[in-house]
Amino acid sequence: MPSLPNSDELIFFVNGKKVTEKNADPEVNLLFYLRKVLRLTGTKYACGEGSCGACTVMLSRYNPKTKAIHHFPATACLVPICSLHGAAVTTVEGVGSIKTRIHPVQERLAKCHGTQCGFCSPGMVMSIYTLLRNHPEPTPEQITEALGGNLCRCTGYRPIVESGKTFCVESTVCRVKGSGKCCMDQEDQSFVNRQEKICTKLYNEDEFQPFDPSQEPIFPPELIRMAEDPNKKRLTFQGERTTWISPVTLNDLLELRASFPTAPLVMGNTAVGPSIKFRDEFHPVFISPLGLPELYFVNTTDAGVTIGAGYSLAQLNDALRFIVSEQPKERTKTYRALLKHLRTLAGAQIRNMATLGGHVVNRPNFSDLNPILAAGNATINLMSKDGQRQIPLNGPFLEKSPGADLKPDEIVLSVSIPFSTQWHFVWGLRLAQRQENAFAIVNAGMSVKFEDSTNVIKELQMFYGSVARTVVSASQSCQQLIGRQWDDQMLSDACRWVLAELPIPPAAEGGMVEYKRTLIVSLLFKFYLKVRRGLNKMDPQKFPDIPEKFTSALEDFPIETPEGMQMFQCVDPCQPPQDPVGHPIMHQSAIKHATGEAIYIDDMPPVDQELFLAVVTSTRAHAKILSIDKSEALALPGVVDVITAEDVPGDNNHQGEILYARNKVICVGQIVCTVAADTYARAREAAKKVKIAYEDIEPRIITIEQALEHNSFLSVEKKIEQGDVEQAFKYVDQIIEGEVHVEGQEHFYMETQSILAIPKQEDKEMVLHLGTQFPTHVQEFVAAALNVPRSRIACHMKRTGGAFGGKVSKPALLGAVSAVAANKTGRPIRFILERGDDMLITAGRHPLLGRYKIGFMNNGVIKAADIEYYINGGCTLDESETVLEFIVLKSENAYCIPNFRCCGRPCKTNLPSNTAFRGFGFPQGMVVVEAYITAVASQCNLLPEEVREINMYKRISKTAYKKTFNPEPLRRCWKECLEKSSFYDRKLAAEEFNTKNYWKKRGLAVVPMKFTIGMPTAYYNQAAALVHIYLDGSVLVIHGGCEIGQGLYTKMIQVASRELNIPQSYIHLSETSTTTVPNAVFTAASMGTDINGKAVQNACQILMTRLHPIIRKNPKGKWEDWITKAFEDSISLSATGYFKGYQTNMDWEKEEGDAYPYFVYGASCSEVEVDCLTGAHKLLRTDIFIDAAFSINPALDIGQVEGAFIQGMGLYTTEELKYSPEGVLYSRGPNDYKIPTVTEIPEEFYVTLVRSRNPIAIYSSKGLGEAGMFLGSSVLFAIYDAVAAARRERGLTKTFALSSPATPEVIRMTCVDQFTDMIPRDDPSTFTPWSIHVS
Ligand SMILES: Cc1cc2nc3c(=O)[nH]c(=O)nc-3n(C[C@H](O)[C@H](O)[C@H](O)COP(=O)(O)OP(=O)(O)OC[C@H]3O[C@@H](n4cnc5c(N)ncnc54)[C@H](O)[C@@H]3O)c2cc1C
Ligand code: FES
Ligand code: FES
Repeated sequence: MPSLPNSDELIFFVNGKKVTEKNADPEVNLLFYLRKVLRLTGTKYACGEGSCGACTVMLSRYNPKTKAIHHFPATACLVPICSLHGAAVTTVEGVGSIKTRIHPVQERLAKCHGTQCGFCSPGMVMSIYTLLRNHPEPTPEQITEALGGNLCRCTGYRPIVESGKTFCVESTVCRVKGSGKCCMDQEDQSFVNRQEKICTKLYNEDEFQPFDPSQEPIFPPELIRMAEDPNKKRLTFQGERTTWISPVTLNDLLELRASFPTAPLVMGNTAVGPSIKFRDEFHPVFISPLGLPELYFVNTTDAGVTIGAGYSLAQLNDALRFIVSEQPKERTKTYRALLKHLRTLAGAQIRNMATLGGHVVNRPNFSDLNPILAAGNATINLMSKDGQRQIPLNGPFLEKSPGADLKPDEIVLSVSIPFSTQWHFVWGLRLAQRQENAFAIVNAGMSVKFEDSTNVIKELQMFYGSVARTVVSASQSCQQLIGRQWDDQMLSDACRWVLAELPIPPAAEGGMVEYKRTLIVSLLFKFYLKVRRGLNKMDPQKFPDIPEKFTSALEDFPIETPEGMQMFQCVDPCQPPQDPVGHPIMHQSAIKHATGEAIYIDDMPPVDQELFLAVVTSTRAHAKILSIDKSEALALPGVVDVITAEDVPGDNNHQGEILYARNKVICVGQIVCTVAADTYARAREAAKKVKIAYEDIEPRIITIEQALEHNSFLSVEKKIEQGDVEQAFKYVDQIIEGEVHVEGQEHFYMETQSILAIPKQEDKEMVLHLGTQFPTHVQEFVAAALNVPRSRIACHMKRTGGAFGGKVSKPALLGAVSAVAANKTGRPIRFILERGDDMLITAGRHPLLGRYKIGFMNNGVIKAADIEYYINGGCTLDESETVLEFIVLKSENAYCIPNFRCCGRPCKTNLPSNTAFRGFGFPQGMVVVEAYITAVASQCNLLPEEVREINMYKRISKTAYKKTFNPEPLRRCWKECLEKSSFYDRKLAAEEFNTKNYWKKRGLAVVPMKFTIGMPTAYYNQAAALVHIYLDGSVLVIHGGCEIGQGLYTKMIQVASRELNIPQSYIHLSETSTTTVPNAVFTAASMGTDINGKAVQNACQILMTRLHPIIRKNPKGKWEDWITKAFEDSISLSATGYFKGYQTNMDWEKEEGDAYPYFVYGASCSEVEVDCLTGAHKLLRTDIFIDAAFSINPALDIGQVEGAFIQGMGLYTTEELKYSPEGVLYSRGPNDYKIPTVTEIPEEFYVTLVRSRNPIAIYSSKGLGEAGMFLGSSVLFAIYDAVAAARRERGLTKTFALSSPATPEVIRMTCVDQFTDMIPRDDPSTFTPWSIHVS
């Protein structure tokens, strides 16, 4: 190597402060560095793969050539610190802080109620902040685009987008779509009922501080000087195991490339980073030419454009946009195709990091750009020390043919993309599980050139992604079609030939085989139509247009910025102004969430001597453990111990839940042992070295069907029955039978399960800090595992980054696993689950199979229903029995069926144990109900809504388990939903749309809901609180409820404020702990506010009773005076409040009881549009009416309803867990499991809290934590309405099976047509599929 000036000093800035690292470690990423080295914990870890946006930061670089500063968002988890030389990093702490000044972005996110658990909030802030740094007055579309790479599991995005829209010049925050009018305009509220006093303002914009872009921190001048310094030095950083070299010139790069031919060139690190983390790749040397000027340029010639390999995809987007604006349309067809895909490829962060060169070289099979570049005849310009050469992208290079790769010493300098020509068409097509930030299921780039002025094919190219291991070309078919006319016969031959040329084996990795085959021809058909349209535009006389009904097939669904309105009851004007009850008060921690100052478990500072824990989990579903070899793991540096079942001093199997597997494993993902080491990296490395020998045990039961075959159940059958079902079946007009499958769901809380277990020196005490919904349960498990009294175990829970039921029982198991490790090593244990481990170990919602037999009259009246439910409980009981009971008890939903029988049983399988999840079985179970309603409607030629109306409870009635109730609020929600959503008018409009559009169909559905809160066991409904008043008048409120993002603490402050008649600012809530309130029940079943509110109220009332004599004597005195006086009079200023709980019960023998305290009613109407050719859908509008009785805090309640609705929509549409036939969960991160993003939420979203009475609950409120979940099924049924329309048009009028989730695959394959008929089908007995359904 030539001797070049060299430096081993890494210099970058973080939040304006200089960081200098000598010999930085190339294996350290920015997220780790920020959190663990700089202790800036605002930036969060939630996936480590660039897919969730929780770790978003702003990177800024100075370009000495243009003298411009480039700010862009990046996911810190994929940024190696070594790549940061010369960069300025801004984290959420650098944007604003409570200690100094909060930034308008942070303030508005908080005040618009855009935070719930707050774990995603710093990432959201950084995405909006970075956008504002580049565009101080953004458009609403830019806000939505900026947020596309950020996941939020709590809010449903609407309030986050809304906070961003407050920065738009023409704020559209409160516009009712289309009308252009403001919803605040009280004179014209046609949408709301003017009789009631309805509020629509959840926050006051006047309170926002103005945004002044000139006040932002400047770019560090030192970095400008560094960038302009002509004497650049090569950078070499020597880490523990690897070396990083950043060349200083192009020649230097080529030298390095020749010297280290196997070293990756790290650019965006979006491909290299994940393959190191997830595929265990190791590279001793990295070369990073990031920032080398020769790789950054755009050069336009007569032939086309050449773009430097270093351009990020975002810069590529800008460059193409500019060229498209400058050049005639016919020349830019390839560029426009690329732009279309660049909008939805990953999220904004990845698009700003990933480079064109990296994309082209990496050639992932799902690449969105390569098929288009190939179809557009792009070429790659290569360079080595020996010179330059050009290779076509669309040749063997793209298909990774042997010998066709870059030579080891070559680099990609640039990519040349020629202009398109007149008789030349280029197009890109893609279909993914969700519209944005999801790898394509199948994508394609296609181009055709015609003989001038004809439709005779001169050249044809088709490239498909995701159908094989590389992007593949249908070159033979294309060749055969040359000379043919572009007509239907050509299409028909092309489809057959392409299917034959690109066969997908039945067991292909990734599954969805028949769907992918269908997409191959469906996308081809779209291209065919597009080209015919184009030819017609060029010469209408010669080339007939496509049928009008087909034109909408060509349009992709637009990405719209959501709009809508939230309506709730105004507070009674007579209420004292200080009383906050009923007001939309911001979440107590919202500002801290937005500034990153809210502390989660892994944000807690290191504890002296602490160790990190990594898990070793079973790779077999059912097997004997023959041996565990820990020796290699123990020999690694930093490893302190490997902990197994042998190390559990007490109960290793508590209540049937096993901490560490002993002798045998019962599912893939069961914890066999843990490794404690001095760093995470070492613990994880060592965990991989533990060798476990297994011997499989038969049977291995994975699915419900297999469990039924083996009679494998977790508990006895539960049943309720009324009337005489058998007799009724004899007298009905029709009987239908059917089966409904509802797959499971991953909680995907943004903060993975996290525990800090600290053993104390004395008395076998242990303190645990963890995110849980049930600290008492953790205490119980830990005490049992350590064989100590519960009084020695203290569990503290301040907040958690989302829970949704997933932190009810699982933290107990994981807490005990950590406690055993802490006990054995005698050192504090930090146990933060990796996302993949969390998804694997903790399982989620129960997959469900429902079988129904329904007897009904021809007018739609249902006389008899006989329903069976089976849920896949997994390998241990956990909450499965209770979930099943909930399903059975609630199984009538809103319908009065006189002869009704419902029974069910949880199945025992060799899957990880499924657990509580928002709605507790209701969201799955009720799909079966609405499915048979839909089936009855279809049989009777009625709308499902008509059958719903006919059979719905109408007057005071008894449920099937004989609980009397008044369905009046249900009727009101239903009626208002139908009316205010203009359901029948819109249904007609949709039908008209459907007659005019063959390949796109619209569907609407209104779904009613009768939900219950609480538990059928009285003692689970109790709660306690402790209220202390201090001598300065400040008040500390403690109760047994957990703050999981729902705003429980905020509501408790509202309660205490009203009861003590003091401002909220006097009241503080710090944390929940087993040391302050013992034996508290879980925070779940929507009753957190109900029961803890009553307990807080009780404590406050006790205190007020004590204070009353003092107040009476000094009524004009101040609160502080009364407190001082009370102290002087020796009156206790601390009180325990208690709520005995709702006196519920259920007698399963008699099949009756007062199972739940009250019902929550609701209805939602959704309208979707479905693309029958791809299976994609777009949610156009949703209207929700939910019975909130009296809302203590409408902002929090609407937040819960919207968040649950979007989570429910995810359950029913995009979220799909994939298991191998051997029971291995494939979906272990956001790349494989698609929760909704901002692009999935309704374009128009209206939510109304309907007023009713509920005297049983605190302030006559209702618990709304879970109810919204099932309302998401209106999207599912709207999709099926659209699909039914498609099927009818194709002559398929029979009722069809309806299952959940309605993924693009399900939608497409149910819209049967000539393309689904054309694909080859495989005999299921001849192969083992890649994945199976477990419901
Ligand atoms: C969360 C996430 C979502 C994604 N979503 C999508 C998606 O929806 N659609 C899609 O198409 N892609 C997607 N991708 C993939 C992404 O497009 C690629 O990872 C990216 O383009 C690679 O570019 P990079 O600069 O990060 O490459 P790096 O990771 O830096 O490098 C990748 C490879 O390219 C080589 N290389 C880089 N530059 C050169 C050069 N100039 N000369 C020679 N070799 C070079 C390196 O040696 C390395 O082997 C996604 C990635 C992530 C992380
Ligand atoms: S943690 Fe970095 S994107 Fe998820
Ligand atoms: S608030 Fe967004 S994940 Fe909880």
